[in-house]
Amino acid sequence: MDELKGRVAIVTGAASGIGRGVAELFAREGAFGLTLADNQAPPLQDLASELRKRCGCDLLVSETDVSEPDQVNRMVQATAERFGRIDILINNAGICPMVPWDRTTLESWNRMLSVNLTSAFLCSKAVLPHMRKRKFGRLVHISSVGAFVGSVTGHVGYGVSKAGVIALSKYLAKQFACDGILSNAIAPGSIDTPLAEAFGEENLQRYVEASLVKRQGTPREIAEAVLFLAGPRSSYVTGSTMHVNGGSLLI
Ligand SMILES: NC(=O)c1ccc[n+]([C@@H]2O[C@H](COP(=O)([O-])OP(=O)(O)OC[C@H]3O[C@@H](n4cnc5c(N)ncnc54)[C@H](O)[C@@H]3O)[C@@H](O)[C@H]2O)c1
Repeated sequence: MDELKGRVAIVTGAASGIGRGVAELFAREGAFGLTLADNQAPPLQDLASELRKRCGCDLLVSETDVSEPDQVNRMVQATAERFGRIDILINNAGICPMVPWDRTTLESWNRMLSVNLTSAFLCSKAVLPHMRKRKFGRLVHISSVGAFVGSVTGHVGYGVSKAGVIALSKYLAKQFACDGILSNAIAPGSIDTPLAEAFGEENLQRYVEASLVKRQGTPREIAEAVLFLAGPRSSYVTGSTMHVNGGSLLI
């Protein structure tokens, strides 16, 4: 409890799945201020009213398309104005459409990279001046096992974008350690969320079989890893990628 006491965090893609799990855990762990950012407003509002009932955390709800620079800048500015600082950014928002190679277009390729990778660049760029000013920051980027094994069921751009997220995270780790800013990535395996549900029963079963623990992970299990990397216990960890996948890469 209280691992994030006094901290101000932004969680993108907070309306569902892993982002929602992170927001719930951060609120429970004593975060002082939390910006919930997502392009889906109604579920975001539902989450905020639920958290307001349960936790003392101050919440800012921001309807933001994280692939749009102006919207990202407005969301980050609003966070700084509301809470006076920004300590933690969780780059989590992402999409994984089921598009086979033959139906892949340049437009859909650009959309994949824009939502899954450019968004992490934009959000990081916008928060960094605030973190550098205070010589403290924690950046956690949600990548995927797809960065290592390639996209099997989804769009070719998925694994590519998620590999890019890891490279971005390492760049930021090197560039900003001198400012007290740590940057790390998490590569989840198959996690029980609406995004994974869209893969269909057959694919999900294949992922379960491919893991050593023979089940999907939960959003909470990823949120716990995010909490470690965003909190005080990981003060000597930067530029790393944490694999949270039930052992899927070992088979
Ligand atoms: N579920 C898995 O098996 C799995 C595995 C590896 C990595 N991931 C990654 O974890 C992250 C979260 O995925 P999830 O499984 O919780 O999916 P999810 O679909 O449950 O949640 C994703 C959230 O991102 C939001 N989002 C999508 N595009 C957005 C945009 N342009 N701007 C703002 N918000 C946007 C959605 O509205 C949604 O609330 C993603 O980056 C995903 O690639 C998921």
